[in-house]
Amino acid sequence: MSGAPLTRRGMIRTLVGAGVAAPVLGVYTWQIAPHWLEIVERGLAIRHLPDPLIGKKLVQISDLHIGPQVDDNYLLDCFRRVRELAPEIVVYTGDFISRYYDYAVRVERMFPHLPLGSLATCGILGNHDYGLNCIEQKVASHVASAAAQAGIVVLRNKISEVAGLQIVGMDDFWAGRFLPGLALRGLDRQRAAIVLSHNPDTVDCAGWNGYEGWILAGHTHGGQCKPPFLPPPILPVKNRRYVAGEYPLTGGRSLYINRGVGHLIQARFNVRPEITVFQLTKA
Ligand SMILES: [Fe+2]
Repeated sequence: MSGAPLTRRGMIRTLVGAGVAAPVLGVYTWQIAPHWLEIVERGLAIRHLPDPLIGKKLVQISDLHIGPQVDDNYLLDCFRRVRELAPEIVVYTGDFISRYYDYAVRVERMFPHLPLGSLATCGILGNHDYGLNCIEQKVASHVASAAAQAGIVVLRNKISEVAGLQIVGMDDFWAGRFLPGLALRGLDRQRAAIVLSHNPDTVDCAGWNGYEGWILAGHTHGGQCKPPFLPPPILPVKNRRYVAGEYPLTGGRSLYINRGVGHLIQARFNVRPEITVFQLTKA
């Protein structure tokens, strides 16, 4: 079947349209979408949740990538919006920074502004918090101690308890520090718990020792750029099923992947940055 022949006027109209659309799409992808934060509100049903925590807000912040690639004022505005939500619990799921020669200056400047929960704030490290090639232990120690100084309980394969809710923090997978056996040692399975693990691929690893419940992750940035109806072409995970949002898993576990606040490359298309506000309920 052949279509109507393209007239000269039609061709000019098409070219002019494309000439206008390309720069508009470029500005959207480069300047608008990377800073168009979405506050995603949803429930989080947790088994054995203590009654005083029912209805409380747990905010997940991920992948800030504090560094030259992400505008400080954009991040400060995101922090202000979290403070306005007055969350009881805040969790950071890794990649506080992007390693750059002046990262220490940026940590000093930005970390005091990180929003905290009124009850508790916990955080874990991501691959970028381990510096170049995920092997710079000095960088990770620096980020962890600055976060602690800012009021965040940094969990490196450890558990922290908040009003009867056990928060398990896994250390980073790509840095070779993901040790679920160590992190889950001491977990009371008869009481409420959630797990923080930066890289979603960790859910497919062995060592979860019968843990049942939510795992909050980041790392993928939702792929940052996604054509409509198609998966994102670039995704830093082995299991390309893990992009963003909720995934039921085997063994009574569920995964939530936050799309992150920052970026490494300032480009997002059809994948807005995200801060998640979970309202806690009893499963
Ligand atoms: Fe990241």
